[in-house]
Amino acid sequence: MRTVKVAVAGFGGVGRATATLLLSRRERYRRVHGADVRIVAACGSSAGVADPAGLEAERFDALKDGLTGPDFVAASGADILIEAGPTDFRTGGPGLAYIRSALSAGRDAVVISKGALIHSGRELRESAQVSGAMLKISGAAAAALPTIDLLDNSLTGCKVLGVDGVLNATTNHLLDAMTTRGLGFEQALREAQAGGFAEADPRNDVEGWDTACKLLLIANFGLGADLTMHDLAVEGIQSVTAGDVAAWRAAGLVPKLVGTIAFEGGVIRASVGVRTYPPTDPFAQVRGKAKAIRIMTDGMGETVAISNGAEPLATAAAALKDLEHILVARAKGRSS
Ligand code: HSE
Repeated sequence: MRTVKVAVAGFGGVGRATATLLLSRRERYRRVHGADVRIVAACGSSAGVADPAGLEAERFDALKDGLTGPDFVAASGADILIEAGPTDFRTGGPGLAYIRSALSAGRDAVVISKGALIHSGRELRESAQVSGAMLKISGAAAAALPTIDLLDNSLTGCKVLGVDGVLNATTNHLLDAMTTRGLGFEQALREAQAGGFAEADPRNDVEGWDTACKLLLIANFGLGADLTMHDLAVEGIQSVTAGDVAAWRAAGLVPKLVGTIAFEGGVIRASVGVRTYPPTDPFAQVRGKAKAIRIMTDGMGETVAISNGAEPLATAAAALKDLEHILVARAKGRSS
């Protein structure tokens, strides 16, 4: 049985949840993929403590206290890096150095945080191509919701005409709570923060930046675009008034913060803003902290997916879906 070594960079809530879920699925990896998947190293905010995520049963072969970035990745000897650090799309965040060093050395990367992918996505994709490494990003592109997978696998037989997505749980919860339960903005936001899905700085959610990041990743990684954040027209829900809410309710319309990808004269355009839907539209059924995507195609009509998966488990599961896809691809590579 082949051994597959995994290093986890970023050991906050999502990194820990991913490591814990991975360990619980090791028997499956042995049975289905013939792979003994081991976490050989972890680093991040709490990785240095004695028992990270209650993982005492798993002996870290190389828990590299004090090592970060390229030093950590090289010392780990990992085949696959799982990167789950904090997101900063303006700088790439701390994850960028980890991902760069993994890909350039031919190590596969499962990336959960969006920052490096937004900031340096093209560089990372090119690096992976040069080294033959695999770069997987489901955990960063709306996680529980199938987005890249749908475009990469399920719909490859037709032409994609456009994409709409309710990609941010916080704003969906806010609009839903304000229009259906009559909550005020602040009260609804407190619920989202208590639920653990609002960002630490909720302006990223409320002003549409989280939606924009996910939309950009879907466009670049799922549709082969090369957009930057400067190419997106982004409007959040910060300007929504009580008058807007009353007018939507009176008209029987359901508001959503939607990321839209359209093709205009062969040019891909992406934007974020509030759109309203009649109650019969599938997007009107996307309640609370759920997310949804609608992909319009020429041959297969419209595909709609809705997910209400909860953080951090949904993100961990999305990352481990990527990990299994890597196991399958690498097994094929070995047998071909
Ligand atoms: N803050 C995000 C949301 C979760 O509300 O969807 C992480 O992407």
